[in-house]
Amino acid sequence: MPAPPTTATPVLTPAMRAEIEAFIPRYPTKQAVTLPALHVVNEHLRCVPMEAIPEIASILELAPAQVYDTLSFYGFFKPSPCGKVRAWVCRSISCALRGGEEVLSALSDKLGVKAGQTTADGKVTLEFGECLGLCDFSPAMLAGTKVYKNMSVEQVDEVAALLKEQADQHG
Ligand code: FES
Repeated sequence: MPAPPTTATPVLTPAMRAEIEAFIPRYPTKQAVTLPALHVVNEHLRCVPMEAIPEIASILELAPAQVYDTLSFYGFFKPSPCGKVRAWVCRSISCALRGGEEVLSALSDKLGVKAGQTTADGKVTLEFGECLGLCDFSPAMLAGTKVYKNMSVEQVDEVAALLKEQADQHG
């Protein structure tokens, strides 16, 4: 059932709505578009505000609770904006054994944020990640679409600068 109309300013722009609607013919059901729709919103806003849920539900003819179920299943989606670049430092076993925790700690000190936080300039959100499939290159980090391999504490100044550069390129 579509969500009731709201008088609040919409969160979804016409461009976001168009992107979501373009997915509909490509999936067997509208409900199957829920996850792509969340990614569309996240890509534009670097978060998925709660106010977006009834709007997505309306497009997909779902109950808002159905959209929320999908949203809350994934820790990926945040209610307030992340940095322009999200950096996941792997903390799974191979990386942990090769100094991943120390790299994360050093990067955290360098950026001035704890894991889960965003730098004051809004450029980088530092996060824990689970196995990135790069165990042969541990400790590893995924930042946006870029992979950092065989990291070390000695490299964190350079890595922090590269992350900020990546953020600048992101707009
Ligand atoms: S354990 Fe870190 S990439 Fe696999």
